[in-house]
Amino acid sequence: MKNLKIIAAVGKNMELGYRNDLIWKIKEDLQFFKKQTMGNYIIMGKNTYESLPKQLAGRKYIVLTSDEHLHKNDKLLTFRTIRDVLEFVKKNKDSQFFVIGGGQIYKSFLPYVNAMYLTEINDTFKNADTFFPAFDKNQWIKQNIQVFEENKITYKRILYLRKKTK
Ligand SMILES: NC(=O)c1ccc[n+]([C@@H]2O[C@H](COP(=O)([O-])OP(=O)(O)OC[C@H]3O[C@@H](n4cnc5c(N)ncnc54)[C@H](OP(=O)(O)O)[C@@H]3O)[C@@H](O)[C@H]2O)c1
Repeated sequence: MKNLKIIAAVGKNMELGYRNDLIWKIKEDLQFFKKQTMGNYIIMGKNTYESLPKQLAGRKYIVLTSDEHLHKNDKLLTFRTIRDVLEFVKKNKDSQFFVIGGGQIYKSFLPYVNAMYLTEINDTFKNADTFFPAFDKNQWIKQNIQVFEENKITYKRILYLRKKTK
């Protein structure tokens, strides 16, 4: 799906989170996330929704959950299945959708996504409890590789594009 992308920040072991929070908070990367997602739909699981410190302004929320309480929140679009979200994405071809996590949701959407922005942080965190799903890097082309450093942590931002299957 052309209008659906993953965006994530991972450690050297594909770490994503710890105790329902981010491991690294890199200012420049959070600004990049903001720039990409502003005005667009962001798709997340309930845990990630609950982990966000505040409602992110200017973004349209899609939350996957079986929690009936959340389905009554009229500030959110809520869905019960991945398939229903994919149908909504398909119907709204002129809108951009970003899968913003967490681990469960990345894993479910990875097969349907042809592009992902991964910020690869040159650091590890041994207590991490949530990870980005494994994927075969041979099936992706790396584009726009940029290298950064903030507070002595180096990281790369890579746009992965899925190779076309013949
Ligand atoms: N580094 C990054 O870029 C990044 C980005 C985002 C999040 N994170 C981190 O990732 C962690 C959270 O990830 P997580 O894997 O624990 O949780 P998650 O993917 O955010 O949410 C999981 C929840 O989403 C719902 N869900 C998942 N699959 C579903 C499906 N197929 N259909 C309907 N609902 C579904 C379920 O909610 P119900 O139980 O209500 O049904 C499930 O408990 C946190 O530590 C967060 O900080 C990191």
